[in-house]
Amino acid sequence: MEGIGRPIVVLDFGAQYSKLIARRVREAKVFSLILPYDTPIDQVRAHNPAAIIFSGGPSSVHADRAPLPDPEIFRLGVPILGICYGVQLFAHMLGGRVERSDRREYGIAHLEHSDTTGLFSGVDGHTQVWMSHGDAVADPPPGFAVIGTTENSPYAAIANVDAQLYGVQFHPEVVHTPQGTRMLSNFVHAISGCDADWDMGSFVDSAIRGIRDRVGEGRVVCGLSGGVDSSVAAVLIHRAVGDRLTCVFVNNGLLRKDEPDLVQEVFRDNFHIDLRYVDAEERFLSALAGIEDPEEKRKRIGNLFIEVFEEEAHRLGHMDFLAQGTLYPDVIESVSATGGPSATIKSHHNVGGLPEQMNLQLLEPLRELFKDEVRALGKELGLPEKIVMRHPFPGPGLGVRCIGAVTKERLDTLREADAIFIDEIKKADLYDGIWQALVDLLPVRSVGVQGDERTYEEVCSLRAVTSEDAMTADWFRFPPDVLQRTANRICNEVQHINRVLYDITSKPPGTIEWE
Ligand code: XMP
Repeated sequence: MEGIGRPIVVLDFGAQYSKLIARRVREAKVFSLILPYDTPIDQVRAHNPAAIIFSGGPSSVHADRAPLPDPEIFRLGVPILGICYGVQLFAHMLGGRVERSDRREYGIAHLEHSDTTGLFSGVDGHTQVWMSHGDAVADPPPGFAVIGTTENSPYAAIANVDAQLYGVQFHPEVVHTPQGTRMLSNFVHAISGCDADWDMGSFVDSAIRGIRDRVGEGRVVCGLSGGVDSSVAAVLIHRAVGDRLTCVFVNNGLLRKDEPDLVQEVFRDNFHIDLRYVDAEERFLSALAGIEDPEEKRKRIGNLFIEVFEEEAHRLGHMDFLAQGTLYPDVIESVSATGGPSATIKSHHNVGGLPEQMNLQLLEPLRELFKDEVRALGKELGLPEKIVMRHPFPGPGLGVRCIGAVTKERLDTLREADAIFIDEIKKADLYDGIWQALVDLLPVRSVGVQGDERTYEEVCSLRAVTSEDAMTADWFRFPPDVLQRTANRICNEVQHINRVLYDITSKPPGTIEWE
């Protein structure tokens, strides 16, 4: 990025933690990017990295198709930190030895160090670290000194200061290594010489310059959903090109309560963005009439969205760019442990195909950012908390939470229940600690009693999960009174619901959305 110092490149060997490493580096205010382990050396060099970090990975260096970097990487002349599998690569490629260790180490261990290289500067001589490995370094390569040990790992940390190579068997990036942040900070600042100059203020300036250079006198159209990513992208682009940005907001009838009003108020009234509101509720409802199959619902919603968006965009006249809130995790070419593509669990609703059809160039100003950075950026740009801190909401909206038939009446019922659940969560001050909270309306009815009346009404299920990145999730442990208040209010205030359940399925095996 222009205006920001040289980046740290995280070379990804298939570790589940590569993204976490990159985020930790950014938390140390140094820009980082993730590249696949087999990135050609010229491409690595083109990024002008200040240092390289080898991520861990599930392979053994002795495996037939063990992922190895180009050996030229050791001649780039920049510091390299090898983590877990990364340090084993040092041993394997530079003349040491890696062995399957007799005692595999998983979980907490204690590092003893008397380091003088600077890697553990300011770190306690005896500190907790987190291990997860089967193989281990049996002989360090020539020129390496041991700088730290654990009970089961005599080579838990090694270094060759002259060659600028540092390796740790444990994972400094995880929270279970409490002083890991300090170690990574030592590596990026003291050892690699990076300034702490990556923050959202500096990002805004360089991003605005970048958008202006790219867009020139062109016009930009942006599909605004009211979610965090498209909202932040829109406001950032608006700062850069003003009225040459037009946002299109499609009300598909599958939105949360008061959503259309909120979006219009924030973007049109507060930010003075040229916002086109398209009321397509009836079209979506008729496309969904009688459809119960989840994939079919998703396809219909996705296709119709493209149709509606395209019609509206044509009405705007000539456009040059389509803005999207694509984030870094969507961009990173992930190295899968098996080497194979991962299965599509659900078809995601997006505007794929649109740019080619409409002959538009893509403008994705957030494609280098992680979600928490996008939130920080949104705050920096003055977006209100209620937008910036919002839980994720799927493109197909309440359509995939209205299990079974999707009708206006059922959607209204669901909207009311959802609003009450979120309201109670916010009142209990739990909203920011939850990744996502949602309500599903189930395709069953149940008997109840209200007053002296027998009722036969709809059933809803509450779901709230904690998660880092939506790939895995755990159900949120509510204080019982929050659930009780929510259930009471839903049964009393929402006309057609007489029973409330709480979903305690984690992901896997469940997904976050039901459909
Ligand atoms: P699942 O249900 O697959 O969801 O565990 C993971 C995360 O993705 C969100 N989600 C979507 N987001 N378009 C989106 O933009 C979609 O079609 C879509 N489907 C699911 C879901 O809400 C959760 O945060």
